[in-house]
Formats: sequence, C-alpha cells, structure tokens
Amino acid sequence: ILVTGGCGYIGSHTTLALMAAGHEPVLLDNLCNSKQAVLGRIEAITGRAPRFYHADVRDQARLEQVLRDEQIEAVIHFAALKAVGESTRIPLDYYENNLTGTLVLLRAMKACNVRTLVFSSSATVYGDPASVPIREHFPRSATNPYGRSKLIIEQVLEDLQAAEPDWSMTLLRYFNPVGAHESGTMGEDPQGIPNNLMPFLTQVAIGRRERLSIFGNDYPTVDGTGVRDYIHVMDLAEGHVKALEHCHGKGGVHTYNLGTGKGYSVLQMVAAFSRACGHELPYHIDARRPGDIAECWADPAKAEQELGWQATRDLTSMCADSWRWQSSNPTGYEE
Ligand code: NAD
Ligand code: WQD
Repeated sequence: ILVTGGCGYIGSHTTLALMAAGHEPVLLDNLCNSKQAVLGRIEAITGRAPRFYHADVRDQARLEQVLRDEQIEAVIHFAALKAVGESTRIPLDYYENNLTGTLVLLRAMKACNVRTLVFSSSATVYGDPASVPIREHFPRSATNPYGRSKLIIEQVLEDLQAAEPDWSMTLLRYFNPVGAHESGTMGEDPQGIPNNLMPFLTQVAIGRRERLSIFGNDYPTVDGTGVRDYIHVMDLAEGHVKALEHCHGKGGVHTYNLGTGKGYSVLQMVAAFSRACGHELPYHIDARRPGDIAECWADPAKAEQELGWQATRDLTSMCADSWRWQSSNPTGYEE
C-alpha cells in the first residue's frame, strides 16, 4: 500500500494500523511538514521500518517508478497542505500542492494500472451544515481555499470514476483528529504556532505557550464555545484499514464520515485536558475566529454498518495519549 504523506500526523499512525493488520505500507513524503525521525519511532513500535521514499507527489516519473518497483496495489493519499488560515494567504500554493499533487498521482496510478485510492477528505466539505449530526449525503460547500481544494478533489475523483468505472475511490471525511499512539512515542508535531485546539492545549500544558485564546463564547451551543467531534487518531487510522479492506477492487465512489458522533465544546476540552495533565490551563475569551462554525459532529452510522468500524477511544484517552506524547517529547520529533 502506498501511503503518500506517510510521515505526517495521520499518515504515520495509519502506517502503524496497516502494519498491525498485516499490510505492507510504503511511505512517500517530501517532508515539508514532517520529520524523517518518525520512521525510527515506527520501527521501535512495530519492530520493522517501513520502506520510505523522500519524494514529492507532483513528480510523476518518480511516482510511477515507486508504484512499479514496489508492486503497489492501492494508494492512501494523505499528502496535502492543511492549514486553513494559511490557505487564505497563499491559495496558489494550496491549489498547486493539493490539486496538482492529486492529478499527478492519478495519472501515475493510471499508467501503472493501480485503481484503488483512499483519499483524505474532511468534514470541512460540509461547510456550515444546516443541522447536526452530519450525514454523508448533506450538501457540500467550501469557505476557504483549503476546503475548496478538498471539495474539488472529491469532484475530480467522482468524475474520473464515472468515466472509468473500475476505479475504487474512497472518500474519508475526517472530523477533528486528536490524540497520539498509546506508547507516547508518536503524535502530532505541528511546526510553528498550532492552528488547532488540541496541539495548542498540549503546548500550554507543557509551558511552551502562555495561555489558550478561546475563539468566541457566544455561539448557540451548550456553553457558548464551539462544539466539534474529536476523534482519536488511532481510531481514525483503523478506519483507513477497514475502508481499504472493504473497498479495495470495488469499482465506485465510497464516502464515509470518520467521527465519533459526539460533540464537545472548547471549554469541555479544556476541562478534560486539565484532568489529563493534572493542572489548570490558563485561557481567556477572545473574538470569534473568522470562518468558524458553531457546531459540527458526525453521524458515523454508515461506516459502522458498511465497514464494521466505530471509534472506541473516549475523550479521556484522547487527552491522556496527547499528554503522554507531549510530556515525553516536549519538542516533538526533534532530537
Ligand atoms: P500532516 O501535515 O501532518 O501530513 C501531511 C504530510 O504530507 C506531511 O508529512 C507533508 O510533509 C506531506 N506532504 C505535503 N505535500 C506533499 C507533497 N507535495 N508531496 C509529498 N508529501 C507531501 O497532516 P495530517 O494532519 O496528517 O493530514 C493528513 C491529511 O488529512 C491531509 O490531506 C489533510 O488535509 C487531511 N485532514 C487532516 C485533518 C486534521 O485536522 N489533521 C482533518 C481532515 C483532513
Ligand atoms: C476546534 C475548536 C475553534 C484553536 C480544522 C479545520 C478542518 C479540519 C480540522 C482539516 C473551534 C476552537 C481552536 C484555538 C480555540 N482540518 N479553538 N482556540 O476549526 O474545527 O477544524 O481542523 O481538514 O478543516 O477547519 O478545528 O482545532 O482549529 O478548532 O478556541 O487556539 O476550537 O474556534 O471551535 P476546526 P480547530
């Protein structure tokens, strides 16, 4: 299985889940947002280092060589830029990397007769949903270039599958991935100031940041702060394995929400994380962040019924595992 973006947060954890299930992942990453040190951590956990190519998904010749040399049967495509705010400042870089990267990958797969793709989509394609929980048939929209890149790629995959029905396209729409591998040796390692809530919280807890800014407490939610469906990254990783095993070789477009079906507010997250790290976390209420929605959580029933997958790790484990990773690796993968 070729795993593009395999050194990143979700890709590296999915590599563990693939190996645990007896698959043979081959990683490809240009390391623009990750570190090669993750490979040693994977080896320490599994006893085996996965094969790794330091390459860009926009390099079609290199991709074709890897697909042939490694006799790849399916691709899980994580490689992308993913920061919403940054995407509004440098949209061309986002379209170039995410769209061109996917188009080149599809061309290479076609040339090598690989027809199974599992794509990292996002709950962001639901825009501001009319109601929750969100089901897969809800209308799609985008409010920023990052989200639009995901939406356009979904449509490209649908168009290609309609034209060439032997393609198996699986669109996995992730809600909010958090947590880390239970060992505490692998986790999320954002560069610079974290955009997302959980890594920001872990950095406040370890003393790398002074306090959390909560973006708005006047939303129509349980306590006024934004509500999201946080999902443990290992549950998400296992969802990829189930999806791959179910959809491999089945022509069609297969779309699944990967979430827990439960929503927690920012204040509930702060309280849960304080319990995990054993001390209070300083925060203040700030203005709403432009583009944020009030609440968002999944209806994960389709994945449960068709893939036999459901998230099993609760909020306490998400926080405990994030904290174990952050506290034993205060500067991430840096030696
Ligand atoms: P990440 O940045 O940790 O991982 C992405 C990896 O892709 C990185 O290792 C990066 O170096 C690599 N990469 C980027 N462009 C590349 C290119 N052109 N060629 C080769 N490698 C390239 O991000 P993540 O959180 O692991 O996200 C993985 C995927 O899941 C992304 O597609 C992201 O959009 C999607 N997603 C993430 C979230 C989230 O909150 N983390 C939510 C929904 C969807
Ligand atoms: C969660 C909640 C914030 C940071 C983003 C992308 C989405 C997907 C997942 C990729 C919100 C609040 C946050 C902070 C805060 N990524 N917050 N202070 O916005 O739900 O989703 O990541 O596909 O596309 O948009 O996640 O973690 O940024 O925010 O108060 O410092 O925490 O307002 O309510 P979000 P998040």
